[in-house]
Amino acid sequence: MPQTTPTWIYRTRPTGPITGETFSLEDTPLPEPAEGEVEVATRYLSLDATNRVWLTEGALYTDNVQIGGPMRGVLLGEVTKSRHPQFPEGTHLSGIGPWAARFVTDGKGFAPFPLPKGADMAEAFAILSVAGPTAHLGLLKIGGLQAGEVVSISGAAGSVGIMAGQIARAHGAHPIGIAGTDEKCAALVDHYGYAAAINYKTEDVAKALRAHAPKGIDLHFENVGGPVLDAALANMKDFARLTICGLISAYNATDPVPGPYRFGEIVNRRLTIRGFIILDHLADFPAITQDLARWMADGTLRMPTHVVDGLDKAPEALNLLFEGANTGKLLVRL
Ligand SMILES: NC(=O)c1ccc[n+]([C@@H]2O[C@H](COP(=O)([O-])OP(=O)(O)OC[C@H]3O[C@@H](n4cnc5c(N)ncnc54)[C@H](OP(=O)(O)O)[C@@H]3O)[C@@H](O)[C@H]2O)c1
Repeated sequence: MPQTTPTWIYRTRPTGPITGETFSLEDTPLPEPAEGEVEVATRYLSLDATNRVWLTEGALYTDNVQIGGPMRGVLLGEVTKSRHPQFPEGTHLSGIGPWAARFVTDGKGFAPFPLPKGADMAEAFAILSVAGPTAHLGLLKIGGLQAGEVVSISGAAGSVGIMAGQIARAHGAHPIGIAGTDEKCAALVDHYGYAAAINYKTEDVAKALRAHAPKGIDLHFENVGGPVLDAALANMKDFARLTICGLISAYNATDPVPGPYRFGEIVNRRLTIRGFIILDHLADFPAITQDLARWMADGTLRMPTHVVDGLDKAPEALNLLFEGANTGKLLVRL
């Protein structure tokens, strides 16, 4: 009898947050791997804010997920059957694949994921797959962060922000985080390298940034957008830089998103603003992975993981990112 595997299929385009109608969990065929293919059992799905972006219509930086097709995401899998020389049975691999318990692939878009010695698998995946490379690239290559500089980071208690604070501190910079609760702000300062942290829900962010960086900000690393970005624009030094990594506050928006209102600061302060997508920088990954693995091994870099059990929980878990309800890197364990 042909085998099947549970797979999340994209059924209805959401308006605002994902609902029970957005996906359906269906049994889909699981063929035997042909020559040059492998069968993979998914161990962890990485839930990322951009998963929501892929569900929208219109031109994106990558392919949209198609209605009627499988939902996809970054995952860590284990090869269970192999007819591919690069991925023997038992190998771990990571890349972008379907939200499915098992799948068959020719390995394109996947790379071996050797577990660093002594590392916890979930933490290593959380650091090395998306968040660590994003923070490293955004701060160092795109943002040009230098030792001694003041860097403000929004979405600081999310997975990218937690990496960014620690990398900035290891680089000799002065990171100021912006996050949504006092508990998250305290953890940023106590555990994740931040020199200071601002609660954007209870504080005047522009005023607090001025207090923590009286001479101004050299680099702003934006994960959120909206009023937080305006507060940063009001506090930049002359010739400062902004790295736009993401704008999570807009991903569930149902109307056009206004702002930034302080656009004039780009001229006043002669600012450079640069967006980036990690997929354009895959050639840098080997060097970045070396840095991240070294920092993991010497204790410079830590990542709290927020693990949800069960493939069936993936859609509702994705909404946690937009509610600020995740504490650390959000993963689904299968
Ligand atoms: N450019 C790239 O290649 C790339 C790669 C990966 C990720 N990203 C981007 O990086 C950003 C962070 O991603 P992540 O994986 O680190 O997610 P995450 O931070 O682990 O989770 C999202 C956090 O963002 C905050 N947030 C959610 N909605 C918000 C809102 N309306 N206003 C302010 N804060 C809000 C919440 O924390 P609070 O409690 O603090 O509100 C939430 O916990 C996203 O924008 C993502 O798209 C970009």
